[in-house]
Amino acid sequence: MRINDSAIVERLKELGVELRPAVSLKEKTSLAIGGVTDELLLHRYDTIPDVMRLLADAKIPHRFLGGGTNVLIADGELPWVVLHLPAAHPGMRVEGNSAYVDASADLGGMVTFCAKHDLGGMEGLIGVPGSVGGALRMNAGAYGTQIGPWVREVELYRAASGEVETVRGNDIRFDYRHTSFADDDVMLRVKLELPSKPYKEILAGIKICNEKRRASQPLNQKSAGCIFKNPPGGSAGRMIDELKLKGHRVGDAAVSDRHANFFVNLANASCDDMRRLIDDVRERVRAAYGVELENEVIFWRN
Ligand code: EPU
Repeated sequence: MRINDSAIVERLKELGVELRPAVSLKEKTSLAIGGVTDELLLHRYDTIPDVMRLLADAKIPHRFLGGGTNVLIADGELPWVVLHLPAAHPGMRVEGNSAYVDASADLGGMVTFCAKHDLGGMEGLIGVPGSVGGALRMNAGAYGTQIGPWVREVELYRAASGEVETVRGNDIRFDYRHTSFADDDVMLRVKLELPSKPYKEILAGIKICNEKRRASQPLNQKSAGCIFKNPPGGSAGRMIDELKLKGHRVGDAAVSDRHANFFVNLANASCDDMRRLIDDVRERVRAAYGVELENEVIFWRN
């Protein structure tokens, strides 16, 4: 979608928004899949309510893209623009056992920043790719750690009220890869409360998680992490592996031969290749185990 109306372009500029026309979202996602649309870089948090109102009044459909590490985006010309909080200098500061972090920060960057201030508890999250905002929305987790339990406050733009609001951690439900945030809530900042731990100890924990991850996941390939959520008490990766589907392909989309719940883009996979592979694997797991796997990756249709 192109924003061509010069009055809107001018107003966006006044609000500190950088408009990048016809951006390929292949370059913005870890799967390297996605079509083309205008990208709006929101350099100022304080103008977000005005920007959102402008887009609503002008009837310009939009979506917020964080780190792009857990989405599968349709190909071709997309019927919505993408909004992005640039991460050049995200705010991060520590006060006692509290850390205040902008949603645009890199999740791993936040873990190491806190570690350097002797604040631990998030070691397991170290290799999870993506932004802090995305991690909050999905309640990212790995190796027994999830972000949710450390959250004390989230500052967000609430589309329903048109206001920036601060929500207390206790009022947010953090479930397995799911939260009670509304789909159109925009994460802005988080306050975490973390246990004190010597830097060296945190570093040792981080090292162990990194090694486990390197040994079991295809980190040097284009993926969106795990494609399916694990079913209660089970493991999607193990089931897919047991069905001998590692290496199974549709076009350039393939089940990783390293970890069966990672689907990788071998070269030029289309969104359709990836969707057909996902549906095919889901169907085979259903036929063999009677289990309906639920997507963890989020699909943005056109
Ligand atoms: N397994 C296989 N074959 C495979 C993959 C796994 O047999 O190809 C077996 C493993 O041997 C193990 C079990 O399945 O016994 C579980 O595997 P793993 O420890 O790799 O964990 P997972 O349940 O597959 C979850 C998260 C990952 C997270 C790891 C580590 C989900 C869907 N996945 O994977 O998160 O990194 O634990 O904590 O919850 C993600 O969310 O995108 C993600 C990758």
